[in-house]
Amino acid sequence: AFAHRVFSGIQPSGGLTLGNYLGALKRFAQSQNTGVQSIYCMVDMHAITVWQDPATLTRATRELCAGFIASGIDPEKSILFNQSQVAGHAQLAWVFNCVARMGWMQRMTQWKDKAGKNQQNASLGLFAYPALMAADILLYHATHVPVGEDQKQHVELTRDIAIKFNHDFGVDFFPIPEPVIEGAATRVMSLRDGSKKMSKSDPSDMARINMTDDADAIASKIRKAKTDPEALPSEAEGLEGRAEARNLVRIYAALSDTTVDDVLRDVGGRQFSEFKPMLSDLAVAKLSPISVEMARLMENPSEIDAILARGAERAREIATPVIDRTLEIVGM
Ligand code: ADP
Ligand code: NA
Repeated sequence: AFAHRVFSGIQPSGGLTLGNYLGALKRFAQSQNTGVQSIYCMVDMHAITVWQDPATLTRATRELCAGFIASGIDPEKSILFNQSQVAGHAQLAWVFNCVARMGWMQRMTQWKDKAGKNQQNASLGLFAYPALMAADILLYHATHVPVGEDQKQHVELTRDIAIKFNHDFGVDFFPIPEPVIEGAATRVMSLRDGSKKMSKSDPSDMARINMTDDADAIASKIRKAKTDPEALPSEAEGLEGRAEARNLVRIYAALSDTTVDDVLRDVGGRQFSEFKPMLSDLAVAKLSPISVEMARLMENPSEIDAILARGAERAREIATPVIDRTLEIVGM
């Protein structure tokens, strides 16, 4: 039996969004008093699967760490570290590149989305991304992986890799990790297109709400958010086929720690012209203390670097025996 251990990663690829906050950071903070060991990684090696300006990457890595801490994740209780500082990720990823099959990778929807029409010109790293993600998780023998809906397929692939490794080498070495997906806004959609997720890695989405946005920027983005002319329904079924409307109600529910049905009980019958200011007041109230704290932390980059270095040391204590034993199993 494997001890309950949580692993999750976020890419330092552009500023954190409301999607990252509701789908990841807020939930990480809420779960940290359960006594379970949690390991959170700034996955800079994933970020460089698409071009990153070096100075921007360095800054984004620190800002991401500041985002974790400002969201309430305590670097003493949880392990916060930077992926490239623990060599085991790259080592284990190579082994998993040799376990995973081409066909498995070709089925990944994120690969298809991110590579777009010009797959021949995408980096090899972007294609192999899910094998590195499997290494991130399994290097710590993590059993639970809190992710947004968008990453569920990659956790399933991680399970396939663990099963195949254990089977091929006749061992029971890697746990088969579970995705943990919960809450009203596990998938926050773009404010201008309810069929696309809000993503910090999508440079074309100027409508995304960043965790560092000020009150005016948040209000203006919510005011411009795409909706429909109908009033809000009084039950969740009334949001069927209304992706943009549903997204705004889900965001409201997640920000206020309640359910879509509870929100609609209060606001059903109102127009979006009334609901949007309520949503932006709520978003500003929840996000502005975090952005203020992020800015304060960013004034001391060396302190952030020290937190990440200490986290990497603690991560290595767990990772080193796992990679050593893996290489031994493989015969290396
Ligand atoms: P991004 O797509 O914004 O670059 P990452 O791929 O780095 O984000 O994912 C970081 C974490 O944030 C993951 O747990 C992911 O599931 C979550 N996440 C990212 N975008 C969203 C979203 N729009 N809604 C909910 N969770 C999200
Ligand atoms: Na992503």
